[in-house]
Amino acid sequence: MSLSIVILAAGKGTRMKSAMAKVMHPLASRPLLQHVIDTAKTLLPQQLSVVAGNGADQVLPFLEGNQVDAVIQEQQLGTGHAVMQAISAIEKTEQVLVLYGDVPLTRSETLQQLIDVTSKQGLGILTTKLDDPTGYGRIVRNDADDVICITEQKDADEATKAIKEVNSGIMLLPSQWLISSLDKLGNNNAQGEYYLTDMVALAVGDGLHIATVCCEDNAEVAGVNTRQQLAELERHYQLQQANTLMTNGVTLADPARLDVRGTVTTGTDITIDVNVILEGNVSIASNVEIGANCIIKDAEIGEGSVILANSMIDSSVVGEGVNIGPFARLRPGTVLADKAKIGNFVETKNANIGLGSKVNHLSYIGDTDMGSDVNIGAGTITCNYDGANKHRTTIGDRVFVGSDSQLVAPVTLEDGATIGAGSTIRKDAPSEALTLTKNSQKTVAGWQRPVKKK
Ligand code: UD1
Ligand code: CA
Repeated sequence: MSLSIVILAAGKGTRMKSAMAKVMHPLASRPLLQHVIDTAKTLLPQQLSVVAGNGADQVLPFLEGNQVDAVIQEQQLGTGHAVMQAISAIEKTEQVLVLYGDVPLTRSETLQQLIDVTSKQGLGILTTKLDDPTGYGRIVRNDADDVICITEQKDADEATKAIKEVNSGIMLLPSQWLISSLDKLGNNNAQGEYYLTDMVALAVGDGLHIATVCCEDNAEVAGVNTRQQLAELERHYQLQQANTLMTNGVTLADPARLDVRGTVTTGTDITIDVNVILEGNVSIASNVEIGANCIIKDAEIGEGSVILANSMIDSSVVGEGVNIGPFARLRPGTVLADKAKIGNFVETKNANIGLGSKVNHLSYIGDTDMGSDVNIGAGTITCNYDGANKHRTTIGDRVFVGSDSQLVAPVTLEDGATIGAGSTIRKDAPSEALTLTKNSQKTVAGWQRPVKKK
């Protein structure tokens, strides 16, 4: 069975009160439309098109980046009119699935179920039951419980308004029948729009079988019309992510205080304290501890490593048994070998830190290759930038750098070198020797401290 998917995304989103197109608002840091496109792609459709209109200046470049076909709906004359714009894509396949760009959390399993229950020449509707169905189209059934039509809120009488089963908007239709019937759609209704939902009564009239899948989780079919609804869906999504992590063996101090904005793979017996954000692609091996308020993005964390509170890790690789933080910042290109230690107020960037090496306090280590068992004293700075170019610092094994030293790159500290505290190292420091640049100490006897002027 060949399938095309049409995602409707031309609507205005007035209630968002935003200069940003509604479908571009992020949920878990991805645009709403990205969620729908990603789910659509899991169904492997032959054709995937998005109907854009309002905010097309933002939506079209986004679609280009996603290699998805765009169809423009110049005037928003209703959901039926929107589908008409995509006929050239629809006619290439046997069935068409209509999705909404502002309904981000539908699972692909649910859509597959809709495809499975809908006969080839029939029509399938994804529905849900709501305690308060206000605003939605109602699924109207006859005594035999067969669907006979969908009636929009604004066109419904009191009895119809009492129906709790509502239209999600997500619908599967036979392409040829749809194309030949679209011109029968009128706009003689309360909103003066061409309703896609009117296709249901037309299908019943033509003797098509109508199948429904009723979603138990309302969030799967919930649309975003306001920022409040966006926040509700974000929370729902985040709780799902937290649940998945816990199911896979991760302890969360509070599942309501974790944000996953990407893909996380985990081992077991990991503990994560409150207010942690995991972004991009993160993999965390077993027995890792992550303290409160850490932000970890595009990183690999090795087995048994401990990341203390308020640390940031970006595009870095952390080995096994490593200690980080509190208040450490690992910038892109940091690679920590096993048992390394990066302490408080230490910033690293493009740096390879060898096995068991320690940078414990108040340092900047950038563009550096460091061997094993090195000890970098507090306040050590690699001066990697000459104002025009970046240069590397090379540090061998077993090097000891005294506190408050500057290493002016390009420079090499050979294996076993010792640097005296407070040195400014501009030339290579030889192996197994003490190198220092400190001024000699002097004492001024009887020196008077300045006193405050009256
Ligand atoms: C629609 C359904 C309603 C359903 C509800 C679920 C119709 C007539 N009604 O109502 O039965 O319960 O969704 O949320 O279909 N769009 C376009 N072009 C248009 C109009 C809409 O692309 O000309 C897009 C919007 O961007 C949106 C979707 O279609 O993604 C739904 O449009 P909206 O105006 O929100 O429809 P509702 O009135 O909520
Ligand atoms: Ca809507």
